[in-house]
Amino acid sequence: MTLSLTINGEERLFYGDPMTPLVDVLREAMLLTGAKAVCREGFCGACMVHIDGVPTPSCLKPSGLAVGCEITSIEGLGIEGEVTPLQQILEDHDVVQCGMCFPGMVMTLTAYLKDNPAPTRDEIKQALVGNICRCTGYERIIDAVLSLTNGVEAAQ
Ligand code: FES
Ligand code: FES
Repeated sequence: MTLSLTINGEERLFYGDPMTPLVDVLREAMLLTGAKAVCREGFCGACMVHIDGVPTPSCLKPSGLAVGCEITSIEGLGIEGEVTPLQQILEDHDVVQCGMCFPGMVMTLTAYLKDNPAPTRDEIKQALVGNICRCTGYERIIDAVLSLTNGVEAAQ
């Protein structure tokens, strides 16, 4: 079966089973490897993409159900060749360790900050409840986001 998918503003064709999880279509057919397939059960958030602007675990989304939707992966954020201010602040704060969680983390935070551009520390924690990071302990990620959004000094 041929599926026409709108990915990062472009029409892309996928030839295969419409039950194929979107994360596998992105990674294996489209070679967009930012979204990571880690738990494949919707718990870790590493595969997060935006579907019609809503952060969605792409491991749980059959690709056939994404036809007609605007799919945005981390490769589609920002202006071509440039990172977003959120990505830059995370880089500046040197918070990325193994990096497995970060594309999903960025996708979640990007959508969240559109709705709440000046969150509190607790609100950022709540926003990240579906994104598991095994390396960083979260605090430096939250510090980085606060420094972007509120100009708040990082907690020590
Ligand atoms: S791989 Fe999709 S939520 Fe973990
Ligand atoms: S940086 Fe390794 S899981 Fe988050």
